Amino acid sequence: DKGNYRHFMAKEIHEQPEVIGHTLSRYIDLGARKVDVPGAAAIDFTNLNRILISACGTAYYAGLVAKYWFEKYARLPVEIDVASEFRYRETPIGKNEFALFISQSGETADTLASLRYCKENGAKIGAVVNVPESTIARESDVVFQTIAGPEIGVASTKAFTCQLAVLAALAIHAGRSRGFVNEDQETELVEALGAIPGLAVQALKSEIKIETLSQPLSRVSDALYLGRGTNFPLAMEGALKLKELSYIHAEGYAAGELKHGPIALIDENMPVFVIAPHDGIYEKTVSNMQEVAARGGRIILITDERGAAESGDVAQDVVIMPDVHEIVAPIIYALPVQMISYHTAVFMGTDVDQPRNLAKSVTVE
Ligand code: M6R
Repeated sequence: DKGNYRHFMAKEIHEQPEVIGHTLSRYIDLGARKVDVPGAAAIDFTNLNRILISACGTAYYAGLVAKYWFEKYARLPVEIDVASEFRYRETPIGKNEFALFISQSGETADTLASLRYCKENGAKIGAVVNVPESTIARESDVVFQTIAGPEIGVASTKAFTCQLAVLAALAIHAGRSRGFVNEDQETELVEALGAIPGLAVQALKSEIKIETLSQPLSRVSDALYLGRGTNFPLAMEGALKLKELSYIHAEGYAAGELKHGPIALIDENMPVFVIAPHDGIYEKTVSNMQEVAARGGRIILITDERGAAESGDVAQDVVIMPDVHEIVAPIIYALPVQMISYHTAVFMGTDVDQPRNLAKSVTVE
């Protein structure tokens, strides 16, 4: 049931404050301001040498964000691959390794094959899945369920942000177990996560602005998305969403890579989306934007009030997000990114919930 929405995707985008809230309530104890991850005790994070993550598509981008978190908050090395590569590359699996699989459906063929490979090679298996009775869930030692509810739109939206919520809680848990997150830091991080539902409501208010700026986008043939840190995977997610929904060719790049090639593509016909909260590396992104502006590129900047004030007016359009703690930025900034591709597709008249050539669950190779 689409309720009052035109498409399932719109409904699912707007459900996010609620379903992220449901998901978080399973993994954090807001009263005590502590993470409390059911099943996590089965993994000996203290003695872990490495986490291996495999997933496909949007779930892979959630894993890429989690890599930054596990490494930063838990000082735990993470190796991540798209599952279609991981399953055939015969990577050696050593002692004290934990393999983590991320999948909305829990049925993706390549992800499942990667899981079975790790299992046969003796790794402990965990899965972040949305469908608890799925094959990936059944074959895992520990399941971290996302409580996103059924996702009908082929383009993943709410499953992605719920995956990030679970992964953030797990990274904090790992950090605490390994002694890299102390009590005060845990309190700060858990409070930050607890603020997500309210911040997501605020982020959704940018929809009117996004609808207006999306109209001219429906006439472009290519677009670039740039981000740094945990917003780099989000840039790739934005490009994937635009491709899937509006069939516009798009690429996501780490902003620092701009000079190493993609800058050659910039001209006045090229929209460049910059996903950049005002954080410790914001200044670097401002210089990237100046480089784009100097070549006539059309910048659409997604940032907060401070970021907008310090952007030096290089952007043609600015989408303002609420101020957020850095751990929640990729979750909150996912919402405008989703809405941009949604509204562009609506203007183009493509089949938003069932884009051409795509299946909701890829159960064959
Ligand atoms: O069910 P899964 O999470 O395993 O699916 C993985 C990908 O097929 C999926 O995220 C795909 O990339 C979506 N169409 C993205 O919007």
